[in-house]
Amino acid sequence: MNQDYPQDVVLQAEDIALSLWQNGELVVVPTETVYGLAADGARDDAVAKIYALKDRPKFNPLIAHVADIEMAKRYVQWNKWAEKLARACWPGPLSMVLPLLPEAPISALATDGAGTLAVRVPAIDITRRLIARFGGALVAPSANRSMRVSPTCADHVRDEFAGACPYIIDGGACRVGIESSVVDLSGDVPVLLRPGYITQAMLEEILSEPVRLHDGAGGTLKSPGLMARHYAPSTPLRLNAQHVEDGEALLAFGEPLSHAGAVVELSRTRNLEEAAANLFAGLRTLDAFGARAIAVMPIPESGIGAAINDRLRRAASDSH
Ligand code: TXA
Ligand code: MG
Repeated sequence: MNQDYPQDVVLQAEDIALSLWQNGELVVVPTETVYGLAADGARDDAVAKIYALKDRPKFNPLIAHVADIEMAKRYVQWNKWAEKLARACWPGPLSMVLPLLPEAPISALATDGAGTLAVRVPAIDITRRLIARFGGALVAPSANRSMRVSPTCADHVRDEFAGACPYIIDGGACRVGIESSVVDLSGDVPVLLRPGYITQAMLEEILSEPVRLHDGAGGTLKSPGLMARHYAPSTPLRLNAQHVEDGEALLAFGEPLSHAGAVVELSRTRNLEEAAANLFAGLRTLDAFGARAIAVMPIPESGIGAAINDRLRRAASDSH
């Protein structure tokens, strides 16, 4: 919850969340990336509720949110790469895919079926404290219906689930605004499965060795979140727009193109971190205008720009 809430209200909300999880129910929690739809990772019945509420394809595994490195080691086989990355990036927007320990108390519905599990420590105090008090991993995908834009504030979550909305711990707007980077450390070389705030270059610097970018080739769907169409608004997107066509809304980066209709500015000063934090809210806002299409101004590939463009390409992949 925001610091603006009185302490007793915060504690009461924590107690409610804990008792809901203990009863196999779902609770929406804030993280620094996007809001998560969280359940007790050890219970099949609780994890199944996530898939049902999201309409998520069953083969898409979940991220186990843990309180710290010690808790992560109860679930996955730790290695040298994990140690370095966890020390440099946790708590923070990095999920690590590692071999699942055979005795790990985690539902098979949350793993990839081939013996790996993604783990991460979120960088929001209340959420980490909740996980620690709960005493085990909470599995949490982004709190949106499958194939839809991830939520970066509590109102987005309410819009997604309307009457079926679970209890929400309101932590205000998400600081990073784009989902965590997912790196696979279970193979011979580290592979970046999903770009995010932690970039390929940052990972290579921390590990002092090359990190491969997952290219989707070879037919295997290592990370189903890499499905072509994902993170999509209903309105078609037109990327790298140099001008605005009749009936289009505009998602601007830098000085907006001249244009008459709805416009959302990601960052007037061309700041990529600010643009990432505004991306999903901007797509939602423009989607609500019901424009013919959303023209998106070009965004550089540098730094977190790669993650922004990754999300935009997926959102546009069905668009014409
Ligand atoms: O920032 C985030 O990661 C947010 C917040 C709530 O923590 N969570 C999130 O979860 O984005 P979700 O379920 O929407 O995306 C998880 C991604 C998917 O692309 C999934 O395929 C991949 O991580 N993933 C999870 N477990 C995996 C595994 N064992 N092997 C490969 N990919 C995995
Ligand atoms: Mg998601």
